[in-house]
Amino acid sequence: MARYIILLGAPGAGKGTQAQIIHEKLGLPHISSGEIFRENLKNQTELGTLAEGYIKAGQLVPDEIAIKMIKERLSQPDCAYGAILDGFPRTTHQADALGQMLAEFNSSVECVLYITVDDQVLIERLSGRWVCRAEGHVYHVIYNPPKQPGICDIDGSALYQRDDDKPETVRQRIKVYYQQTQPLIDYYQQKGLLREIDGNQSIDEINEDIMKVLERIGVQ
Ligand code: AP5
Ligand code: MG
Repeated sequence: MARYIILLGAPGAGKGTQAQIIHEKLGLPHISSGEIFRENLKNQTELGTLAEGYIKAGQLVPDEIAIKMIKERLSQPDCAYGAILDGFPRTTHQADALGQMLAEFNSSVECVLYITVDDQVLIERLSGRWVCRAEGHVYHVIYNPPKQPGICDIDGSALYQRDDDKPETVRQRIKVYYQQTQPLIDYYQQKGLLREIDGNQSIDEINEDIMKVLERIGVQ
């Protein structure tokens, strides 16, 4: 049975950070919808051009575009045994589409890790974030600094600050999260899949809590 794990939480909650660690520990591919869009933007593909205006404005890319993109990614052979989904779904329409997609693979969502963090902490985390050019590995100037300033520990590529981490765009992204993504908490709670994780702790403590939850439901 394939294992599809969703990471849910506000911008800056630590979805990417935790997905990276779960990937290292369990080997499941880390699928970050935001990272796929940014990669396409960098390579000026058709998908990148379609998504660009929305991302820069801190708005969600339209559902149809996000759904098509994820469907293509999840159809690739490395996702046959499951995946860690970071940033998808973001709306109930996307969640319905994901359920249908996985049903076609005779599978379903295993659990939803909902990382909760206070708003003022989110802003502090995003303003100090640096991301690697090659694969989107995530750092923070204070909380998770790279060994060498400006260089990714994992692949040696240069670090940069995301365009949408500007304070005004961050505020917009948080607003959009509350309006469009928060309904997913009830959606998955009603399905009995939601597992709340206290995201106000250190990266290691959060990961310990996540691994305990995953162990309890038999994902190891
Ligand atoms: P996306 O890239 O998904 O951005 P996001 O949801 O806003 O989330 P972030 O990546 O900002 O935060 P994160 O939770 O991953 O935090 P991180 O681990 O980096 O989406 C970007 C855009 O793409 C969207 O706005 C939208 O336009 C579009 N998009 C993407 N998916 C879409 C979809 N499905 N539908 C439509 N549109 C879509 O951590 C943040 C910082 O904090 C880092 O510096 C990290 O080092 C630090 N940190 C992490 N954990 C801790 C901790 N415990 N203590 C201290 N510091 C920590
Ligand atoms: Mg992220």
